[in-house]
Amino acid sequence: MRELVLAAKSGQCRILVGEKLANLPKYCGTGKIVIITDKSVSRLHSKDFPKEAEVVEIGLGEGAKTLEAVERIYRRFLSLELDRSAMVVGIGGGVVCDVAGFAASTYLRGLRLGLVPTTLLAQSDAAIGGKNGVNLDSYKNLIGTFRQPEFCLIDFAFLKTLPPQELASGFAEVIKHAAIGDQRLFAFLGKNSAALLSGDEGALEKAISDSVAVKVKVVQGDELESGQRMILNFGHTLGHAIEKTTRIRHGHAVAVGMAAAVQVSVSTGLLKRTEAGRMVSLIEKFGLPTKINFNCALVLDAIRKDKKRRGVEINMVLLSGIGKPVIQRISLDGIAGALKALDGA
Ligand SMILES: NC(=O)c1ccc[n+]([C@@H]2O[C@H](COP(=O)([O-])OP(=O)(O)OC[C@H]3O[C@@H](n4cnc5c(N)ncnc54)[C@H](O)[C@@H]3O)[C@@H](O)[C@H]2O)c1
Ligand SMILES: [Zn+2]
Repeated sequence: MRELVLAAKSGQCRILVGEKLANLPKYCGTGKIVIITDKSVSRLHSKDFPKEAEVVEIGLGEGAKTLEAVERIYRRFLSLELDRSAMVVGIGGGVVCDVAGFAASTYLRGLRLGLVPTTLLAQSDAAIGGKNGVNLDSYKNLIGTFRQPEFCLIDFAFLKTLPPQELASGFAEVIKHAAIGDQRLFAFLGKNSAALLSGDEGALEKAISDSVAVKVKVVQGDELESGQRMILNFGHTLGHAIEKTTRIRHGHAVAVGMAAAVQVSVSTGLLKRTEAGRMVSLIEKFGLPTKINFNCALVLDAIRKDKKRRGVEINMVLLSGIGKPVIQRISLDGIAGALKALDGA
């Protein structure tokens, strides 16, 4: 087990990488434990939840990130007569972590919170950093708070029940963290892709803890996203637009988005072509796409509607080398050029 600490204004979080779910009560204190999970995670893993805990289930997937779901949770909290000594624990993917974090940080102006992320995406990204929230209509994460959980317990055993495509998708975020902040992790991922994809726990502990360490460092420097935290969006400007217009998995869309970002980095003269090639081959080693068939006009339109747009230019995270992110204003024309190069059609 490796322990990292994230210390920020909204609280301090112990990140326990490689800890076992069986040890969860150790971190919960003496108040009531209320687990928030979703139906799939509950079906597969609730037999291993602490027996003394109450369990609240939410629906599956992005559609469950609503204020209605949060209201149902509040009503359960009310019927359980929770006070501020209660510990709310979200056990699930990014959806559960976001909803549990929001419900816990708003009920009684804040109950205690712990997270047990169960997808690779949540273990390496979503559960770390203290952002939570729900969607409103088609607007993602419009409502939420910044609040660090007290702990984030990462048990690799959960990854064994994850569909292989879901695991691969999660590696996109690990690759993202390596690309923006850790050359050595980047090299490690290149050498150990097979071990990681087969669930080797030693390799996972190294990759996830180093990936988490990159996010921790960025969040500690800019918790409220006023500047540098934006580098965590590497691959996401295009990734989100591709995700919206093609409905492929988040990590797969981010993989294509990262390939596009290095393409733009080369065409603006920031990045050597050979470095861009290293990025593309690492993405491919994890079975993730770097090109797909998509409708260029629709993707550009989605980017235009992106809340980060200002005029005909947008802020984009580029690389000047592996581990060296640069935030630059890029014209939509520049992006259109990179998109054409990636269109697998
Ligand atoms: N707060 C943040 O900083 C942050 C960062 C990145 C992403 N997110 C959010 O995370 C969400 C996506 O997270 P996700 O990809 O984990 O999706 P998810 O939570 O919907 O999980 C994906 C699917 O996997 C299932 N699942 C979860 N754990 C499993 C396991 N161990 N075995 C088998 N099935 C399992 C879930 O039931 C679900 O059907 C998005 O809503 C996104 O906005 C938040
Ligand atoms: Zn992401």
